Amino acid sequence: MDAKHEITICLGSSCFSRGNKEVLEVIKKFIDKHQLSVDVFFHGDLCNGHCAEGPVLKIDEQLFSNVQVDNVFDILSGYFEINEN
Ligand code: FES
Repeated sequence: MDAKHEITICLGSSCFSRGNKEVLEVIKKFIDKHQLSVDVFFHGDLCNGHCAEGPVLKIDEQLFSNVQVDNVFDILSGYFEINEN
């Protein structure tokens, strides 16, 4: 695998029904907007047992909980140190 980073979105039924379906679209837009598709391997995964903190998202080894459409852009910008302004 050549990608430098890995983003894993939980597609388990709990996270998916609590918003990861929409979060997934935002992440795709973020990757496109910042042309990160070469550096980032973005994929879905099954439930990892953190449902109570969901929806969850993992970037490399870091787990983010309660990820929503309105905070995922900030999470990604912070992690990848991208200033949106
Ligand atoms: S469904 Fe996402 S952690 Fe369980």
